[in-house]
Amino acid sequence: MQNRQTNQVFNFDKFPNFEKDIDLKQRAWIEVKGKAIETNVRELRSKLSKNCQFMAVVKADGYGHDAKVVSEYAIEGGASELGVATLKEGIKLRSFGVKKPILILGNLYTKRDLIISFKNDLMPTISSIRECLVCNNIGKHFGLKFSLHLKVDTGMSRLGFESNKFVQEFEKIKSFENISIEGIYSHLSSADEDNALDSQSITQVQRLKFNELLKQINLDRNNEIKIHLANSAGMLLSKDFHFHMVRVGLSMYGYSPLVKIDKNLLLKPALSLKVKVAFIRTIDKGVSVSYGGKFVSHRKTKLAILSIGYADGVPRNLSGKINVIYNNKFYPQVGSITMDQMMVDISDSNEIKVGCTMVLLGSDGDKTISPLEWARKSNTIPWEILCSFKNRLPKVQVD
Ligand SMILES: Cc1ncc(COP(=O)(O)O)c(C=O)c1O
Repeated sequence: MQNRQTNQVFNFDKFPNFEKDIDLKQRAWIEVKGKAIETNVRELRSKLSKNCQFMAVVKADGYGHDAKVVSEYAIEGGASELGVATLKEGIKLRSFGVKKPILILGNLYTKRDLIISFKNDLMPTISSIRECLVCNNIGKHFGLKFSLHLKVDTGMSRLGFESNKFVQEFEKIKSFENISIEGIYSHLSSADEDNALDSQSITQVQRLKFNELLKQINLDRNNEIKIHLANSAGMLLSKDFHFHMVRVGLSMYGYSPLVKIDKNLLLKPALSLKVKVAFIRTIDKGVSVSYGGKFVSHRKTKLAILSIGYADGVPRNLSGKINVIYNNKFYPQVGSITMDQMMVDISDSNEIKVGCTMVLLGSDGDKTISPLEWARKSNTIPWEILCSFKNRLPKVQVD
């Protein structure tokens, strides 16, 4: 090999090939406890009637946890179906050997995508007669039935048949011979709002509308069509939302979306976010730290430089608002979070050294920092925090 700057020629043959195996924990990483997912699914399933099934929602790479690990453990905990957002996510799960039914929650509208879905044994979400017809034609072409779920819009105004046309359109759909309607579902828009159980709430209006539509399409009692409505919040609100299946994401990962947390619900966060201390420096009183000089030291300050930043998915607007844990103690993050690094005031510690591991999310001793806290502080929702972590952060399974 030749050095481009000096033109020196090196022979590295005798050196070990370190690059082949850069330590997953070299910089910053996500740790995932598969067992926590399994335990959470069991715990959540214990709140369902015996016949109510559990769909594990593993879209967006299992809410940033690693869809393969999450699917494996969710199935171990009793999940009978999986929900993804995209065709690619579904195909990836099949490539991991997942055998359970997989529903694509996003919309497929081209014949090509629907054929791929069919060939990979993925069930599409159908929102129109046109999409239904395409599926029927694909089924007919192969001499088989195309399994799918119909979605009806009850108030989200996103995907789904229009509720006032659904009954009429369902009559037509029933006559399609090469589709198999595996499910009929809708999605709640506001079940995590404080007032969700009030009789006038959007959530109750959606539930009543959904019930009314089901009554009108007059499903035969013996039919096998699965009816489903609830996300995590809907599931935790009341059994009235359970029907034949619930579609659960956030709470399976260990967080309740409800403000009024049920003390009897034992959920374990499955994710930790950890980072190495890359450098330590001491600055005098009155010295500014990071871009924009927003933080100025008010004493002689020891700073740990951590190898993580907004390019890894830590929101920049958390600058100066979060803590990091080391050995059961909190240390404040100071100055603007940069693209790849952030600074932490470790003046009160003699034990933190370069190469030590600090905890940004998760627990250490009796201290915990939750994505719910980050979400509150950065004025967003925990779903967005979990889905923002970038591929640059390796995911390490720790059970
Ligand atoms: C259609 C659908 N069902 C279920 C879920 C799971 O929601 P949650 O993470 O709140 O449980 C989602 C997530 O956004 C969704 O889009």
